[in-house]
Amino acid sequence: MGDIAGKNTKKDLLWHLQGNWAPVDKEISELNLEIKGEIPKDLNGLFLRNGMNPKSGHSDHWFFGNGMLHGLYLENGKASYKNRYVVTPYLEKDLDVISSFGDLTASPANTHIVEHAGKVLALEEAHLPWEVDKDLNTIGAYDFAGKLKGAMTAHPKICPETGEMFFFSYSMMGEPFLNYYRVDDTGQLIQSEPIEIPRPVMMHDWSITRNHVIFMDLPIVSDMDLAVTTGSPFGFKPECGARLGVMPRDGGNKDIKWFEIDPCYVFHSFNSFEEDEKIILYVSRQQEAMVGGFQDIYGGESTVARLWRWTIDLKTGHVKEEQMDDGACDFPRIDDRRVGLKSSFGYSLQIETDVESLTFGNHFYKYQLETGLRIDHDLGNNIAGGEPVFAPCSDVSEEDEGWVMSFVHERDTRKSKLVIIDSRDFESQPVAEVYLPQRIPYGAHGSWMPNK
Ligand SMILES: [Fe+2]
Repeated sequence: MGDIAGKNTKKDLLWHLQGNWAPVDKEISELNLEIKGEIPKDLNGLFLRNGMNPKSGHSDHWFFGNGMLHGLYLENGKASYKNRYVVTPYLEKDLDVISSFGDLTASPANTHIVEHAGKVLALEEAHLPWEVDKDLNTIGAYDFAGKLKGAMTAHPKICPETGEMFFFSYSMMGEPFLNYYRVDDTGQLIQSEPIEIPRPVMMHDWSITRNHVIFMDLPIVSDMDLAVTTGSPFGFKPECGARLGVMPRDGGNKDIKWFEIDPCYVFHSFNSFEEDEKIILYVSRQQEAMVGGFQDIYGGESTVARLWRWTIDLKTGHVKEEQMDDGACDFPRIDDRRVGLKSSFGYSLQIETDVESLTFGNHFYKYQLETGLRIDHDLGNNIAGGEPVFAPCSDVSEEDEGWVMSFVHERDTRKSKLVIIDSRDFESQPVAEVYLPQRIPYGAHGSWMPNK
């Protein structure tokens, strides 16, 4: 079976090439997969997940591996699987990341996969998106008819009310360090705004509300002083401070109001929404990040996230910061039909602490966001989860009425499977487990794309 992991058993390998982080070396298609339990009949569509899978078997950093898509097709209770690389110049020319910076199309395309206005886009945050189809064929670099001149974040937000897609790009190379973009519901890029921030920062995610977008200016900075102390030009510098920037969706730099918060880092947000004169954000907040430099993804307890709530009082300028739970977790998701709107529930992946490198845990957490009340789904011993993605029962079902899906990995058997959990019966065993014909390496983000 296509699996480079067997060759990667030396202890001196970088953590992101060991065990189930190691890439697979086969692109396969298989119909009629083995199913334990029963796939809900109303769950018809494609669960598509992106992740880093270095074709050579090696990459210098977890973030640098070639993007591979893993697609699980569900139809009338049956399941099939296909995996394919996103075929970009980064893959075809076997570029290293430094060389890729000279070509906006040379994306690893390895971080997320989203569908908007009929396009399926493979995303990474330093290059253009790459369009693929649902058979996982690569179509080409996508620049919104020539209107996108820079990179695109891997975490765009799609408004469930207007169908618009909002995104940003950040640059560590030169000003503007931040740009904002708005795309209408037909896929036309209709607004581009340069945004002023005092220094280049790594901005991985952000949030929207019904009327606003919220940027997170947090202190993973690009700074040559850091290169001297950590050997990496990127790293955590809390003395630079941390701010949230609230801007009307149709506004520009002059319209942003900035709000100071305690220095921290947030790779991922759950959701945010407006309530009276306040904006409420639920985020996976960690005390610090990349303290030892860019290579230092995991550095102990303070570098693992928890659920926090930030309440921005737009009148007073004060931000109330509250830790809602002590469970270490990341890769948060919500019911995507509530993005930017008041939402009651969030789903997240437990992350292990007291380990030597980033380690996905064997629990999913379901949060009642307002109270921080947590319900755990235990995957079982020696099983590691992935990002939990929510799929509603139908377009009109209530929030949380649906299924939580994820690719998980059995360490003992070295097999991967898709688990489908009834969201309203979260603690119970999955209603279905679909065994995959090959191992699926731990990866990044994915989406549920229901059949139309
Ligand atoms: Fe992410």
